Amino acid sequence: MARAFSAKKGRYRSAPFALSDIALGSCYQNVCGSQHQTMTYQIIYSSESATPMQMDDLEEILVQARRNNAKNGITGALVYVDGVFLQILEGESPTVQQLMAKISTDVRHETITVLKEREVPVAMFADWKMAYVSATAAQVAKWAGLSEVTAIPDVVTDMRQAPDTATRVAQSILSVLETLPVAEDKAD
Ligand SMILES: Cc1cc2nc3c(=O)[nH]c(=O)nc-3n(C[C@H](O)[C@H](O)[C@H](O)COP(=O)(O)O)c2cc1C
Repeated sequence: MARAFSAKKGRYRSAPFALSDIALGSCYQNVCGSQHQTMTYQIIYSSESATPMQMDDLEEILVQARRNNAKNGITGALVYVDGVFLQILEGESPTVQQLMAKISTDVRHETITVLKEREVPVAMFADWKMAYVSATAAQVAKWAGLSEVTAIPDVVTDMRQAPDTATRVAQSILSVLETLPVAEDKAD
């Protein structure tokens, strides 16, 4: 089950996310097992850009995001394909939730849909303040395991219906990043 942010109202539009989708494991209040390992909250969402994004527009978002995220201990990745954003945000749960509320009121995009949210033992994108990955719709479809699908809205629909697809896409984005040379978006 996914839930959608209302960009105008800045809050969720549908029922809360199923708890079963949050990999809490044996953790309670972010403390796991005997080693007291702190979990990282991860959220993956999609949105539609309000207007077609040029490189300058994306650069502006990334500069702002990286500056803030470095201060707030947030890491993640952003993909923009054919008018659709996919973003992964990770960090302490309240901090990510606050950022998500802020992002949801940003007029540069709309129709924000949370595809997956979960607790992970280690941030997947710990090395990136906000990585940017350039991709085509066909590439994202391949990451999602949808070889027959070529349009990004169809990939997003599948990710909404099967949230594990969003996790698979995040893993593929990470694999792409790990092949790239060290970049300025690396977290300090
Ligand atoms: C697609 C998209 C992704 C964004 N990602 C981030 C982000 O990762 N971190 C962030 O601080 N702001 C991000 N923003 C910008 C926020 O919506 C907001 O404009 C910004 O955090 C305000 O920063 P300020 O309080 O420094 O003015 C994003 C905006 C868009 C449209």
